[in-house]
Amino acid sequence: MKGPDPSDTQLPTEDGGYQTYKAAGKLTGKKAVITGGDSGIGRAIAILYALEGADSLIAYLPDEEEDAQDTKNEIEKRGGKCYLYAADLRKRENCREVVDEAMSKMGTINILVNNAAYQNMTNGINELTEDQWIKTFDTNIHPYFFMAKYALQHMKSGDVIINCASVNAYIGRPDLLDYTSSKGAIIALTRGLCNQQITNGIRCNAVCPGPVWTPLIPSTMKTYAQDQFSGTPMGRPGQPSEIATSFVFLASQDSSFMSGQSLHPNGGVIVNG
Ligand SMILES: NC(=O)c1ccc[n+]([C@@H]2O[C@H](COP(=O)([O-])OP(=O)(O)OC[C@H]3O[C@@H](n4cnc5c(N)ncnc54)[C@H](O)[C@@H]3O)[C@@H](O)[C@H]2O)c1
Repeated sequence: MKGPDPSDTQLPTEDGGYQTYKAAGKLTGKKAVITGGDSGIGRAIAILYALEGADSLIAYLPDEEEDAQDTKNEIEKRGGKCYLYAADLRKRENCREVVDEAMSKMGTINILVNNAAYQNMTNGINELTEDQWIKTFDTNIHPYFFMAKYALQHMKSGDVIINCASVNAYIGRPDLLDYTSSKGAIIALTRGLCNQQITNGIRCNAVCPGPVWTPLIPSTMKTYAQDQFSGTPMGRPGQPSEIATSFVFLASQDSSFMSGQSLHPNGGVIVNG
C-alpha cells in the first residue's frame, strides 16, 4: 500500500488527524547545509529548520532543479532563507564547492546534514552489478566523509553533524545489499567522527528512518516492496516531517548530551544499537 501524500510540516495527532509542526526558535541564527535537501526527508528538514530560525543551503543533483526551487519557495513563503547549489556530490571537488558556497553565502556552517542517497533494488548478489555497488558507495558514503572533512574546517564548539542512515542497516535488507551496507558504514562513520570531534565540542549523530513515502520510493523500489510499505509495527509508513523532527532535535541544544548515537524513527521496529 502506498503512503499518503508526503507532508513536510504536518504531524499525526493521537486521534488520527494532523497538526502543523509547532516551532520554538530552537535553531535561531543557525546556518545549515543539507545534502539532498530538494525533496523528501531533506526538504522536510530544510523547512522545519527554517521554521526553527535557521538558514540553509541545500545541495542536490542538477536534474532536481525544479524540486529545489519548490523547496526554496516553500521556505521563503514561511519567511526563511534558502540557498541552492546543484552539484553531483560523488565528485569530491563538488563537495568542497558546496562548503565554499555555504561559507560565502551564510558566513559559517553550524549544522551539516548528510542526507543525499541512491538506492536500487536487486534480487540477490548475482543481479547486483559491481558498477552499482560502486555507485551506491560513491553516492551514499564517500560524500558524507568529504562533506564532513571540508565543513569541519569551519565548524566550532556547539556545531553538529547529522548523518542520514536507515533502518536497513539494522535489519539487513537482502534486496538492497549495497544500500544496506553503505548505511551501515554511515553508522560507523558517525561513531568514529563522534570520538574524533567530541573534545572539540562538535556532536555527530545519525538518524535511521524506517519506510517513508518520498520520491525515492516509487522511483527506486519494486512494486512488491512498495506494497510492503505499511508493514511497520504501526501499520503505516512515516511522513518526511516525522523524520525531520529527529533532525531538529539533534541539531538543537535539546540533544546537548548526545553524540555518536542513532535515532530510530521507524514505526516501532525494534533494533539493537
Ligand atoms: N524514504 C525512505 O523510506 C527512507 C528510509 C530510510 C532512509 N532513507 C534515507 O533518507 C535520505 C533521504 O531520502 P529520501 O527518501 O528523502 O529521498 P529523495 O529521493 O527524496 O532525496 C534524495 C536526494 O538526494 C539527492 N542526491 C542523490 N544522489 C546525489 C548526488 N550524487 N549528488 C547530490 N545529490 C544527490 C537528490 O537530489 C535527491 O533528491 C536518504 O539518505 C535515504 O537513504 C529514506
